[in-house]
Amino acid sequence: MKAQLQIVQTQKQSEFVCSACGADRACDCNAPALERLAAMRELNRQAVARHRKKRQENQQSCNITPAGNSEWYTPEKYIDLARPVLGDIDLDPASCEFAQQTVKARNYYTAADDGLKKQWRGRVWLNPPYAQPLVGQFIDKLLAERNAKRVKAAILLTNNFTENTWFQSAAMLCQAICFTRGRIRFLNQDGQETAGAVTMRGQAFMYFGPHTGKFFDVFSDVGVVLRT
Ligand SMILES: C[S@@+](CC[C@H](N)C(=O)[O-])C[C@H]1O[C@@H](n2cnc3c(N)ncnc32)[C@H](O)[C@@H]1O
Repeated sequence: MKAQLQIVQTQKQSEFVCSACGADRACDCNAPALERLAAMRELNRQAVARHRKKRQENQQSCNITPAGNSEWYTPEKYIDLARPVLGDIDLDPASCEFAQQTVKARNYYTAADDGLKKQWRGRVWLNPPYAQPLVGQFIDKLLAERNAKRVKAAILLTNNFTENTWFQSAAMLCQAICFTRGRIRFLNQDGQETAGAVTMRGQAFMYFGPHTGKFFDVFSDVGVVLRT
């Protein structure tokens, strides 16, 4: 019987086998063809490994690693836009000592405090942790504190995941949104900027409060502003 190469579906994956002897690697039945096949499989394996590596790098760079790295900080130029719109920043509920060198909020909560368990008051700057479910939980908390009228005004900075429920909920209740022109180069813990393309998405600033006109004037410098 002439050996033929076949693709068979095993429980784990598609595999090539020799139809004469059932070998899944080079065998005597049709050795040259199976050797070519082995080479193809090796090429395929290398391509998959490259793809996985690239996907992992992309995930790390847009802060959605499986572990959920949230330690990316807002550059000063954007805090300098937010502060005059809010008047001052009373609270940064998702923060750390490093970020406070820039944000300089009157009060702030760190992961150790757990900002989700505290009451929020006044004028809030919120760039929440990127990992799920934290981003959704922080946005729900912001909306609840607004509803309770403890938060007088807020600026929320997120990636522009417009399709997500948390984005839609916030967008429905904010007074205006600025979609950034280009992507923000966030800072890492060494104070270094993320490289140009790595955040993968643009960002959105959502404004909650009475000074929509001021938000419009100031944030138009960094993107298109839509009143909701
Ligand atoms: C994306 S960073 C933004 C930091 C800062 N607000 C800024 O704009 O630069 C989110 C921060 O929230 C902190 N964080 C994570 N979980 C938290 C929690 N449950 N309560 C308060 N802060 C938290 C992270 O450690 C991180 O420093």
